[in-house]
Amino acid sequence: MYVIGGGASTSLAERISRELGNAPFAIPFRKRFPDGELYMRVGGKLEGEDVALVQSTRTDQDVLELFLLQDAIREAGARTLWTVIPYFGYSRQDRVFFPGEPVSARALARHVEIDADAVVTVDLHSELTKGAFRKPFFEASGIPAIARLLRERPVDLLVSPDKGGVDRVRRMAERLHKPWSALFKKRIDSEHVELTVPEDFPSVHGKHVVLVDDVITTGGTIVESARVLRQQGASVVMAACTHGLFLRDAFERLKAVTDEIFSTDTLENAAEKASVAPDIAEILKRALPAA
Ligand code: R5P
Repeated sequence: MYVIGGGASTSLAERISRELGNAPFAIPFRKRFPDGELYMRVGGKLEGEDVALVQSTRTDQDVLELFLLQDAIREAGARTLWTVIPYFGYSRQDRVFFPGEPVSARALARHVEIDADAVVTVDLHSELTKGAFRKPFFEASGIPAIARLLRERPVDLLVSPDKGGVDRVRRMAERLHKPWSALFKKRIDSEHVELTVPEDFPSVHGKHVVLVDDVITTGGTIVESARVLRQQGASVVMAACTHGLFLRDAFERLKAVTDEIFSTDTLENAAEKASVAPDIAEILKRALPAA
């Protein structure tokens, strides 16, 4: 199998190629035409090959680059094209909230599939979006990667900031044989949340607590959760997520209230300490035994 790393996921793509036993790895050439349009070119002999293209779609430009690379790989005669989108952008608009809106996640899923034989992603935001894929679709979890890292740290309790994350924190806790609990979150607007401590929440006094979420965007959820845990007497508060977007000053605000922040490498950022490369490679190996 060939692995090609798009501009948003070059390092992760290289890690995946290593996990596949040093599969051939290539970084496409990229430049801008004078009018600003994107030019892409893939190297290597792809004819008849199984190719994994790795590109997160955090920005609109990432999406465009993905489409151009898919087309280039097809044009080069690849046998199969595995489109690996570690962070699948636009996945939060997974339904029509107000009349006249698109289901953006579905729109992206459909267009990504045009030139893909299969799609692989990590912790897709919504179950609904999975139903939009018609081609084979595989989802890796960020939980094993974060659990591998947490095994090296003293941890007393795992906490989800909201009830929606209970399944995630429970699965992580089971892997680590640790207790877990959840706070109660009320979203005020896209940047502000209110966190409260349920009556049955365990004592965190003097404990090492890890907040676990699927994504950190503005940081509002984790900042407020960490404050609440500190008020409750936690001695160490760590924050872990699969997808670290860390918008604007989120990272600085998080650093002020936590002892350590870490994310997986689905997005390139200063906190990516846990790699999902083994988990993605495992999916590719299972699906393509000769990879
Ligand atoms: C909510 O459903 C998600 O699990 C995250 O808690 C949320 O998206 C985080 O966003 P922010 O960092 O902006 O609070």
